[in-house]
Amino acid sequence: MVRWRHRYRSPDLKTHRFPDSFLWGAATAAYQVEGSPLADGAGPSIWHRFVRTPGLVKDGDTGDVACDHYRRMADDVAMMARLGLKAYRFSISWSRVLPEGRGRVNEAGLAFYERLVDTLLAHGIQPMATLFHWDLPAALDDRGGWLNPDIADWFAEYASLVFKRLDDRIKLWATLNEPWVVTDGGYLHGALAPGHRNRFEAPIASHQLMRSHGKAVQAYRAIGKHQIGLVVNIEPKYPASQQPADLAATRRAEAYMNRQYLDPVFKGDYPAELREIFGEAWPEWPRADFDLIGQKIDFLGINYYTRNVVRHDEAQWPLKAAPVRQKSATYTETGWEVFPQGLTDTLLWVKRQYGDIPQYVTENGAAFFDPPQAFHGRINDPLRVDYYRAHLRAIHDAMAQGVDLRGYFAWSLMDNLEWSLGYSKRFGIVHVDFETQQRTPKDSAAFYTSVIASQGAALDAEP
Ligand code: BGC
Repeated sequence: MVRWRHRYRSPDLKTHRFPDSFLWGAATAAYQVEGSPLADGAGPSIWHRFVRTPGLVKDGDTGDVACDHYRRMADDVAMMARLGLKAYRFSISWSRVLPEGRGRVNEAGLAFYERLVDTLLAHGIQPMATLFHWDLPAALDDRGGWLNPDIADWFAEYASLVFKRLDDRIKLWATLNEPWVVTDGGYLHGALAPGHRNRFEAPIASHQLMRSHGKAVQAYRAIGKHQIGLVVNIEPKYPASQQPADLAATRRAEAYMNRQYLDPVFKGDYPAELREIFGEAWPEWPRADFDLIGQKIDFLGINYYTRNVVRHDEAQWPLKAAPVRQKSATYTETGWEVFPQGLTDTLLWVKRQYGDIPQYVTENGAAFFDPPQAFHGRINDPLRVDYYRAHLRAIHDAMAQGVDLRGYFAWSLMDNLEWSLGYSKRFGIVHVDFETQQRTPKDSAAFYTSVIASQGAALDAEP
């Protein structure tokens, strides 16, 4: 295993230049930034309900206001342009567009996304739209949500509506954001909406998510003219030792988190380890489902934050695998080890396992404690600057080793609602004062701007 040196440098390259076509962006998600969840005829999502259940979200925080982006969108896009961003990845709130999840269209909701896209394009910023970033319409949850097999049709209907309206202006689409988090957090451990804890439900939710992904890709082929892909979170798994029990635990952890959603897309089946992990709760699925799930996609989006060093632990349910904390590493505020080499490894692993599919890093970033206010107009966030420098070098390294990487999106454009952790964790390259909604670019934003403007050359300099 390669140990991370604090100042990560690409081993074989002194200079870092990215192709002119490389897409430099930042990302957000609807519920985390928009606020105004029920404005202009929008319907509630499962997150609207989850945050209203006492005890589920830190400090009782909600997305009712968030970054107020729904109302401040034009200023936010102007800020993106000032930062020099070439692309912006956002998600569409399904229940803003279809308040009951299906049927009746809320034109005002669609109009918001049309305005957003038009404003981005007017500033020369390319939109990448995610159709589902966790905010399922509450009305569909009432019908079983991701456990109901009909959801694949509901999702395809919603997707088709949005494709018809926006594909003339959006060239990059993603179906789902991180199906693993949706099922692990939403259906197995209950930390995220809809908050279930059920070993029997999790594999069903996963499968219906992937069928829905497949149906949306199929719908896109009938309507769309550009590119569509899937966004997964990958945490490379490294064994804590070469003991057979640790190696087997590492394989289970990798199958559960990293291969569960990619094997069916690219290899036509789930990894065998999942049957071992879920036991009697693991269902058999009709072969035809895998034809649907395996629709050809145009790119893969990788969300990378950290790695996981794994040891066998009988007490850990259901994986029997536990993370091992690294003594001399830096950890972020969310308790994640800073390990840039893992990003290079991940991009290369995808290429090795699944072939030469074009990839985007659709999220990468870190929560660190920031000074509460600007000092002399600056928010000094040196750990985040280090994080970005090292991870941007790491993607360059992967490209030098043959990965077809087309773009990179920092998570996140601005501090926002970190789901059940509320506003306690700040991932933004732009600081948000949640009292005044004042935005202040952090030093990490200035650094990222310099990397973009120099097409990577700013990464050459030793800090
Ligand atoms: C999600 C984001 C989230 C980020 C940091 C990803 O799992 O897509 O919505 O804020 O990680 O936790």
